[in-house]
Amino acid sequence: MVHTKMNAAVIDTDGKVVVRKIDVPKPGPGEIMVKVGAAAQNPTDWKSIAFGKRTGAVVGCDYTGVIEEIGPDVPAGLWKVGDRASGFVQGSTWPNGAFAEYTVASAEVTIHVPDSWTVESAAHLGAAPLTAIQALWQSHDDLPTPLKPTSTPFPILVYGASSSVGQFVVQFAKLSGLHVIATSSPKNFDLVKSLGADEVFDYHDTEVGKKIKAATGGKLKYAVDNISEHGSSQIISDALSDEGGKVSLLFPYESPRAGISVSSTVAYHLLGKSFDFPFSYTEDPNLT
Ligand SMILES: NC(=O)c1ccc[n+]([C@@H]2O[C@H](COP(=O)([O-])OP(=O)(O)OC[C@H]3O[C@@H](n4cnc5c(N)ncnc54)[C@H](OP(=O)(O)O)[C@@H]3O)[C@@H](O)[C@H]2O)c1
Repeated sequence: MVHTKMNAAVIDTDGKVVVRKIDVPKPGPGEIMVKVGAAAQNPTDWKSIAFGKRTGAVVGCDYTGVIEEIGPDVPAGLWKVGDRASGFVQGSTWPNGAFAEYTVASAEVTIHVPDSWTVESAAHLGAAPLTAIQALWQSHDDLPTPLKPTSTPFPILVYGASSSVGQFVVQFAKLSGLHVIATSSPKNFDLVKSLGADEVFDYHDTEVGKKIKAATGGKLKYAVDNISEHGSSQIISDALSDEGGKVSLLFPYESPRAGISVSSTVAYHLLGKSFDFPFSYTEDPNLT
């Protein structure tokens, strides 16, 4: 049966979110339409409701579900109706989001969900793992990858390692052969180590930057800042080598120390469409 109306969490005129009946979205070129089985929350959900203020937009980014329709120009063989898929959409901005019965998503920024995974456990395969990939290999263009791991491990600092994005960064960095230095609260030390961190430090410790520098013998040159606020910039610059280093950020900032280069990334770039939250970005038709 073809559905034309669905329930969705929609931003109302007063900035609140209400469940409302709206039209089921149609997949455009390069898109799939998914019947949402589960959705996951991200900090960007509340931030975009509070600051994006897009009346009528559907909330939610991370979804998992079953494909019901395939739009035009989706590469042949990539997806078929009935496949299980996980990914993210830019909720609260487009009139399409994950907190709805149906969502339309980019066919190429979507992950095949193995049959062994429950729909709930697959729902976090959205913004977090893809942001982790960008933070590691778009911002840093010279790191090894899981497909070509280094045989001579060197240190990388994963700041905010117990966060959703940080947990993926730890795993990808370890699979790439790196020596993973992580920060988290002590209650999450075991979790972060179980994901592959070699050493974990408590970011509440006022000496943490210096301790990481000592533990890495002053040789730390790479960091991923999964928090990018609340003093993370100072801790990371204290930890990096005297020769400087490179930090990948989830929000832009300037390093408090000369000789350290920073580069920020935002998951929405992957979707290739213009957006105006958290900053303005105009679609680049030449970008593939
Ligand atoms: N640029 C992008 O595309 C992008 C994508 C995803 C997320 N983000 C942003 O990245 C941030 C994290 O998102 P997430 O979903 O990964 O977060 P999350 O899963 O909500 O992470 C929360 C964890 O981060 C740690 N944390 C919180 N405040 C901290 C602080 N001041 N200093 C150090 N660690 C702190 C805490 O770890 P402990 O419990 O161990 O203390 C907390 O449990 C958010 O601000 C989000 O908006 C950006």
